[in-house]
Amino acid sequence: MDLSDLSITLVKDAKRRRKPHPDEMGFGVFYSDHMFLMDWHEDRGWHGARIEPYRPLTLDPAAMVLHYAQAAFEGFKAYPTKDGRILLFRPELNLSRMNDSMERICVPRIDEQLVLSAIKELIKIDRDWIPTDRGQSLYIRPTVIATEPHIGVRPAKHYLFYVIMSPVGAYYKEGFSPIKILVEENYVRSAVGGLGGAKAGANYAASLLAAEEARRRGWTQVLWLDATERRYVEEVGTMNIFFMIDNALVTPGLTGSLLPGITRRSVLELASHWGMKTEQRPVTIDEVTQAAEDGRLTEMFGSGTAAIISPVNEFCYKDVPYLLPAPQPGPVAVNLFEMLLAIQNGQQEDPFGWTVEVV
Ligand SMILES: Cc1ncc(COP(=O)(O)O)c(C=O)c1O
Repeated sequence: MDLSDLSITLVKDAKRRRKPHPDEMGFGVFYSDHMFLMDWHEDRGWHGARIEPYRPLTLDPAAMVLHYAQAAFEGFKAYPTKDGRILLFRPELNLSRMNDSMERICVPRIDEQLVLSAIKELIKIDRDWIPTDRGQSLYIRPTVIATEPHIGVRPAKHYLFYVIMSPVGAYYKEGFSPIKILVEENYVRSAVGGLGGAKAGANYAASLLAAEEARRRGWTQVLWLDATERRYVEEVGTMNIFFMIDNALVTPGLTGSLLPGITRRSVLELASHWGMKTEQRPVTIDEVTQAAEDGRLTEMFGSGTAAIISPVNEFCYKDVPYLLPAPQPGPVAVNLFEMLLAIQNGQQEDPFGWTVEVV
């Protein structure tokens, strides 16, 4: 299959979807007029690449994804620039991670180049869905699901891969606001050898109860510990976690049980480029609480596509709250946030070749 096989059916004007006002945009609430789809069958491989009007899917109630959670997804954004261009931020890493996630749950690999080209076509068709204010963007959600109707646990023989897009508002409407997180002591998200390193839907189902209980107690997100010893810090909600300890930027290494975030990787590369000391290594929660008590923990923040950088000003472990020293967000979080946002919006020269223009 190549892109010359891509069939395009445009939405009729009368069926165009309502575009949100900038104030009601939120995150993942509105969807653009078109979607990309392709199918996989045992005897044909990936085929039927097409762009069609956005619509509900028809699924057999026995579709395997509904029972055995064979589903994976990705998330990245198209950013508008002031001079009217559209930029993607390291999309090749998202598509390569999509293939890694799919491989982990036995879904056949996609052609990353072909899918990226199809996504660019989709963005061009729905270009007028890209919001234009600073910090706003068009969120792109590639997804794969097992569609074969079958009861019985084994990899499916039919899959649907699709891409939908959602205009999203600026994450920080009233400034760059810090969050408070609860270190989770009872539930685990993932164990080494499990699915945690993949962007599989099942990981998010596993995380819901802990997050809900934390929210009821007044905490924004949970900080996960490792499943074996409940000692090592892993990640937060839908973000990787960073600490400034003794002037070094420290983050847990990729053990397989946490998601290899693309923002995480960019933060590490940017910080090294700035000459900062960076460390990817096991981080125990005791080290973090001790550093907080000693005043050596000066900043803590999450990294992810949605917020870019999310500063933490308070965390709680074993019912003891720890406050980060003022001011939060600290200088490292602010500099990383401003620089990444400026590169993504094309306001700052991109010295790394991270952005890809949609033309
Ligand atoms: C569990 C989890 N960890 C970390 C991240 C951050 O990854 P990225 O920086 O690629 O968005 C995400 C979001 O995609 C996530 O869902």
